[in-house]
Amino acid sequence: MGIQIETIFSSEERIPQPFRIQEPIEQREYLINGELKIWQGSLNPVLSPIYLRKGDESSQKILGRTPLLTAKESLEALDAAVNAYNLGNGLWPTMSVVDRIEHVEDFLKSMRNRRNEVVTLLMWEIGKSLKDSEREFDRTCDYIVETIKAYKELDRNSAKLVEEQGFMAQIRRVPLGVSLCMGPYNYPLNETFTTLIPALIMGNTVVFKPAKYGVLLIRPLLESFQKSFPPGVINIIYGRGRETVGALMESGKIDVFAFIGTNKGANDLKRLHPKPHRLKAILGLDAKNPAIVLPDADLDNAVNECIAGTLSFNGQRCTALKILFVHDTIVEEFINRFNALVSKLKPGMPWDDGVALTPLPEPGKVGYLKELVEDARAHGATVVNENGAYHEYTFFFPAVLYPVNEKMRVYSEEQFGPVIPIVPFSDDTEPIKYVVNSNFGQQVSIFGTDSKRVARIMDAFVNQVGRINVNAQSQRGPDTFPFNGRKDSAEGTLSIADALRVFSIRTLVATKSTESNKQIISTIIRNRESAFLSTDYIF
Ligand code: G3H
Repeated sequence: MGIQIETIFSSEERIPQPFRIQEPIEQREYLINGELKIWQGSLNPVLSPIYLRKGDESSQKILGRTPLLTAKESLEALDAAVNAYNLGNGLWPTMSVVDRIEHVEDFLKSMRNRRNEVVTLLMWEIGKSLKDSEREFDRTCDYIVETIKAYKELDRNSAKLVEEQGFMAQIRRVPLGVSLCMGPYNYPLNETFTTLIPALIMGNTVVFKPAKYGVLLIRPLLESFQKSFPPGVINIIYGRGRETVGALMESGKIDVFAFIGTNKGANDLKRLHPKPHRLKAILGLDAKNPAIVLPDADLDNAVNECIAGTLSFNGQRCTALKILFVHDTIVEEFINRFNALVSKLKPGMPWDDGVALTPLPEPGKVGYLKELVEDARAHGATVVNENGAYHEYTFFFPAVLYPVNEKMRVYSEEQFGPVIPIVPFSDDTEPIKYVVNSNFGQQVSIFGTDSKRVARIMDAFVNQVGRINVNAQSQRGPDTFPFNGRKDSAEGTLSIADALRVFSIRTLVATKSTESNKQIISTIIRNRESAFLSTDYIF
C-alpha cells in the first residue's frame, strides 16, 4: 500500500495562508425583492469534505451554516419574481436589450472582484483543485461575456423587417416568465450560471436555489446580485429542496424549470406542477458515457483521454466517461498503461501543487463506491490497479475494475466518482447494443484509426446520443457547441446561443404590406413609438 492518510489530509498549519478559513461562516442573508434579508430561524451546517489532522486525531472541517428557509420564505421569493415579471409588463421584461445588458455587465464587473473568495470556497466546499476552481470561475465569466455578445448578435438579426408573401413582420425573442434555476454540486457556479444568466438577460425573472454542496460560495455574490438587478428580478433562497422548491412547483407559477441533477429529482419536481403544459423544462441529467477503444487506436492518446475522461474532478462530471469498452486484443496493454498513469495521479488537498485526486463532497459517497466495488468483485471483477479502492474518510483512490459484465451494478449505474469499469469486447455490436439499450444518451467516445470502422460505429450512435467524440474524451466544451442528451439524460439544448433561445420565445408583429400599413409601421419606427418594433442596431 503506497498511500497513507498523512499524504492526503493535512493539518491546519500546512494550509497556505490565503486559503485558510479561520472562523466558520455563519450566513443568515438571503435575497428577496432586492433586499438582503436576515434569517432568524434554524441554520443548516456546511461541512467540508476535508478532514484536518491534529496530532493523531482528524476531524471534518465545519465551514459554516446557511439559512434553512421554509416554504413560506420560498413563496415570498416567488411572489417577488412574479411581481417583477408582472405578467410580462414589469420593468425587467419590458426593458430594452441595451439596458438589460448593462445590468448583466455591472454584475459581471462586481463578480470578478470576488474571485478569490469564490475560488477558495469552491475548494473547501466541494474539494475541487485550485486550478479547476479557478478555471470554473473564469469559464463562468467568459460564458457571461460570450452570452452578451450572442445576445447582441441575436438582437441585430431581429433588427430588420422581413417581407414574405405580401406580409411584413418583425420577429423578436421575448421572455417566458418566472424561472426556477437550480444547479449541481459538481459545478455549483458554472452550471448554475449557464442557465441563470441566459434566463435573466432574456428578461425572465428568477428564483435561484444554490446546489446542495457548493452553497456558501454564492454568498460573496449576493450583494452583486442585489446591486446589479432591479428588485425581484433575482431572488436567492436556501433550505431543503423538497420543502422550498416543492412549494414553488406546486404553486403553478413557475414558467421555466432549469435544473441540473438526477432524472428522478427532475421527475419528482416536474410532477408537482399543476399545469405541466405551461412549464418549460431545461434539464441536464444523468449519463453513463462509454468509451470504445478499438484495436487500432492510438493507445497513448486513448489512455490519456480516458484518464482525463474518467478521473477529472474524481469522475464527478456529468460528461465523464463512466464505462470503458476495450477491445479484447489490446485490453491488457490498455490496462497496463492506464494503471501506470493512475498511479502517477497525486492525491491531496485542493490547494496542493499538481493535485489530481481530492476528497469527495457527498456524504456516504465512499460507502457507495465501496459497495459498487464489492458487488463487482462478487460477480467476477478484480481491482487491477495499485492502491485501487483505498479509502479514508471522504477520500477514495480510483478503483480500476476488470473484467466488468452486465451482472454488476457498475455496468449500468452512474457511479459519479472514481471507479473505472473496463469491459472487454470482441464484436463492435456489443458496445453499440449497450448504448442503444441504455436509459441514458448523453455522449460516447470512439478511439480508433480505421476510418471505415469509426464511421460505422459513429453512425450507429447518431440517433442515440447528443455528441460523439472521436479520439477524444467526452466533454461539454467549447461552450458554443450544443450540449444536450437523449432519453433520461437531458431535456433541451444548451450552448451560449441555444440557452438564449430556450429561455425565450419568438413573438412577431405582422401586417399586410399595403401602403397605409407601411406608413404606420415606418412612423412607429421613426418616432420610436414602440419598444418592440424598432430597427435600432446594437453595437
Ligand atoms: O457535469 C457536467 C458538466 O457540464 C461537464 O462539463 O465536460 O466541461 O467538465 P465539462
